[in-house]
Amino acid sequence: MEGRWAAVDRYLADQVRPDDPALEAALRESAAAGLPPIQVSPLQGRLLRVLAEAVRARRILEIGTLGGYSAIWLAGGLAPGGRLVSLEISERHAEVARRNLAHAGFGTQVEVRVGPALDSLARMAGEGTEPFDLVFIDADKAAYAEYLDWSLRLTAPGSLLVADNVVRQGTVADETSSDPSVVGVRRFLRRLAEEPRVNATVIQTVGAKGHDGFALGVVLTEPVAAAPPRAVNPR
Ligand code: SAH
Ligand code: DHB
Ligand code: MG
Repeated sequence: MEGRWAAVDRYLADQVRPDDPALEAALRESAAAGLPPIQVSPLQGRLLRVLAEAVRARRILEIGTLGGYSAIWLAGGLAPGGRLVSLEISERHAEVARRNLAHAGFGTQVEVRVGPALDSLARMAGEGTEPFDLVFIDADKAAYAEYLDWSLRLTAPGSLLVADNVVRQGTVADETSSDPSVVGVRRFLRRLAEEPRVNATVIQTVGAKGHDGFALGVVLTEPVAAAPPRAVNPR
C-alpha cells in the first residue's frame, strides 16, 4: 500500500500547479545541511497554502520551523503585507530556514524565533501580540496540548488551527501506547474535543509520508458547550 500511496502522491502533485523552484531548493539545502527529512510533503504544503489563502491570513504563526519548507508554503499564502512568525528550538535549523526563506523571497516577511516554543509563546502573549489568523502546530508532539492552549491566547474568532502528524501511521488509536508522541497527540486531541472555543475535525492522509493526518479547527465567535465527559473507548 505504501508504494501505491507514494505513486498516487506523485501523480497528484503533477496535476497541480508546479511548485516554486525555491521550495525544491529548500529541500536540497535542508538535506545538504543534514536536517531530518520530516517536512510536509509537497501536496500537504500546498494544502497549507490553500488554507492560508482561504482565511486570507495576514498573520500566521508556525510552531516548528525545521528548514523552512512549510514556512515557504504558508508565506506564499499570506495576504499582501502579511507576516509569518515561526518558532524553532534549534539555532542550526533556524539558520538553514532563514537562508531558505530569504532565497524564496520571504526574508523580510518571515521571522524565525529561536528557543523552546513554550517560552516564545509566553513571551508573545505577554507582549500582547496582534492575533494570528492561522496557527500551524508542527513541533514536539508531547507539547501539542500546551501549544493548543497558547494558540487560543494568540488567535481570535475565525482563526484557523492546523496541527500536523496527529495520526502517526495509525498509532494514535492505540490507547495503550507509551510512545510520548502518541500520548502527546492523544492528549491534544482530547483537549481539542473538550475545548468549547474550537470546532475541530481530523483528516487522515496517505501519500509520500505514509499514513498520517491533520487536525483542523476554527476558533468560534460563540463558545459551544464542551463535549460531555465520556468513557475511554466506549463500546
Ligand atoms: N514545519 C516543518 C517541520 C517541522 S519538524 C515543515 O513541515 O517544513 C519539527 C521541528 O520542531 C524541528 O525543527 C524541531 O527542532 C522543532 N522543535 C522540537 N521541539 C521544539 C520546541 N520545544 N520548541 C520549538 N521547536 C521545537
Ligand atoms: C516527525 C515530525 C514531524 O513534524 C513530521 O511531519 C514527521 C516526523 C518526527 O519527529 O519524527
Ligand atoms: Mg510535521
